[in-house]
Amino acid sequence: MNAPEKTLKAWAKPTLSSHRVGVMNKFGAVRQQFHQTEVDGVEIEPLLEQFGSPLFILSEKTLRNNVRRLRRAFATRWPKVRHGWSYKTNYLNAVCSILHQEGSWAEVVSEFEYQKARALGVPGSRIIFNGPWKPTAILEQALQEGAQIHIDHLDEIYALEQVAQKLNKKVAVGIRLNFDTGYTDSWSRFGFNLESGAAMDAVQRIASSQWLTLTGLHSHIGTFILDVRAYAAQARIMAEFMDKVESSTACRIEYLDIGGGFASRNALQGLYLPPDQLVPSFDQYAEAITGALLEATRTRSAAGKPLPTLIMETGRAVVDDAEFLITRVVGGKRLPDGRRAAILDAGVNLLFTGFWYNHEVKPLRQLDGTHEETVLYGPLCMNIDVLRSSVMLPPLNVGDALLISSVGAYNNTQWMQFIQYRPAVVMITQEGNVEVVRVAEQLAAINDFERLPDALRLPFPQGLPE
Ligand SMILES: Cc1ncc(COP(=O)(O)O)c(C=O)c1O
Repeated sequence: MNAPEKTLKAWAKPTLSSHRVGVMNKFGAVRQQFHQTEVDGVEIEPLLEQFGSPLFILSEKTLRNNVRRLRRAFATRWPKVRHGWSYKTNYLNAVCSILHQEGSWAEVVSEFEYQKARALGVPGSRIIFNGPWKPTAILEQALQEGAQIHIDHLDEIYALEQVAQKLNKKVAVGIRLNFDTGYTDSWSRFGFNLESGAAMDAVQRIASSQWLTLTGLHSHIGTFILDVRAYAAQARIMAEFMDKVESSTACRIEYLDIGGGFASRNALQGLYLPPDQLVPSFDQYAEAITGALLEATRTRSAAGKPLPTLIMETGRAVVDDAEFLITRVVGGKRLPDGRRAAILDAGVNLLFTGFWYNHEVKPLRQLDGTHEETVLYGPLCMNIDVLRSSVMLPPLNVGDALLISSVGAYNNTQWMQFIQYRPAVVMITQEGNVEVVRVAEQLAAINDFERLPDALRLPFPQGLPE
């Protein structure tokens, strides 16, 4: 009689998660009501007095730690790894420079972002140039400076050929792909579709070009992706396509760029479980991606072919929890439906991500009184200006300050000078010093862009109409 075959369970990395005591809400999550007085050991209240409210506070320590953890998670699992800092996520010069100091390249998607990276001293050869519109002049500069350009559509192939011909040099390019991973909606408006054959057509077109050579594949499958299997599928699909490209053309693929999209520790609206329980760690993302890549490149490795460099363009997961927004209560009211409301000096003009996150809100001091459902309104005279439609808070008084987190991703870029000035951003350095990294806006700077025809200048010769 044959011995029964042993089935081995897949090894899973053990993890420890801390338990918190406290009263649970109906979803089993503990309701926290801590207050927070400092960031990285620096008291916040004196900063508000010095720099005014509202105020953004950036933690250099958290930002550096985050990008180091990201890099370590991947570099321990894959031989050649690169991080491209997604400028659109946060292009404050201080943020970009810290990440460049940590070894990240710049990932830009426009002429403005390309110029910003160059002005910071990033060489063109360390810039990844994505995006659906790259005007010819900047494309020419980027080609001359050796940037890594990812083609979005056929017209761009043609534009690039013309620029390369003008420069009389054959240039290396990458293409952006889109495809269905089976886990996320495919962002099919960017790049060339794989399933329809458009991607292979583009590859053939580039392969036959006198001026272009294809060396890289790029894709970005979405954002705030909580299921690491989506990335495993993406890595496998890209590696298989790389093999197809190499077997059907003379192109040699040097890198696979998997884009961004790792979730940050923020609470997405509509998700009941807290981010601690939902958001995968960098190690979990890295394990899924490199595991799939190792599997998909096995025959390639066996044949002695080089493994591609793995590029990540992780944005929000690197910067989100490294920044806080501090805001003061300017008024309160009781709404007709009985809910309590507080009016704050910061609104959606500063916190664009308030439209889809339930940011964590903590008072700066211990507040007394019963917690009650509270609506947090911003200062704009606009109905949409709601920072939190419902958050449990004790009674708030005028002047009380609240700390809102995590706000580092997509706010300092998507904020608007609308009705209100944009406030200062200060950074707590690793040494615990405070540096202003963006001054508060003033009228003169905003008016500087405007030109008023002489005939419209006050006082009018005929005086003001009644
Ligand atoms: C091409 C590309 N790369 C990287 C990112 C950064 O994404 P995330 O902040 O979700 O990591 C984006 C964001 O939309 C993107 O479009």
